[in-house]
Amino acid sequence: RASIGFYFWDIISILGPEVDSDTSLNDYLRNHLNLRGTKYMCKEGGCGACVVAVTVNDPHRRTFSVNSCLVSITSCQDWEITTIEGIGNRARGYHPVQRTLAEYNGTQCGYCSPGFVMSMYSLLEANHYDLTQYEIENSFGSNTCRCTGSRPILDAFKSFAK
Ligand code: FES
Repeated sequence: RASIGFYFWDIISILGPEVDSDTSLNDYLRNHLNLRGTKYMCKEGGCGACVVAVTVNDPHRRTFSVNSCLVSITSCQDWEITTIEGIGNRARGYHPVQRTLAEYNGTQCGYCSPGFVMSMYSLLEANHYDLTQYEIENSFGSNTCRCTGSRPILDAFKSFAK
């Protein structure tokens, strides 16, 4: 079951018992909710194309990134999941992370972009936008650009450093 959240977030509440327990979050987003912005490549946690942001309250509210290919849908109870569709688009306006990536020519073929953007979005949310360039540079070991053009991506994201 999907619901559109507040403001620019697209928050999905996963409550349905009708999904097989071996369905991954990535399969659920793409094939059940038709949210194809979240990509996949390796399906074993190595490329980061499938990253989404997860927010939990346990008991404090916190956000982190998740490789959706590695998570069973049955593990997502009570998670607020934000996908690339939820943070911004042409109609509503792009999120600063999306806009900055484009301005720095970091999109290239675009396949890895949603995963990189959601990793950066999660990182900023988790750290309340209080990060150094060094911390940002060292936070993307799990995202792969198959064009091998990681430098403009990292340069774009490092512009968010304090
Ligand atoms: Fe590669 Fe999930 S598809 S990490």
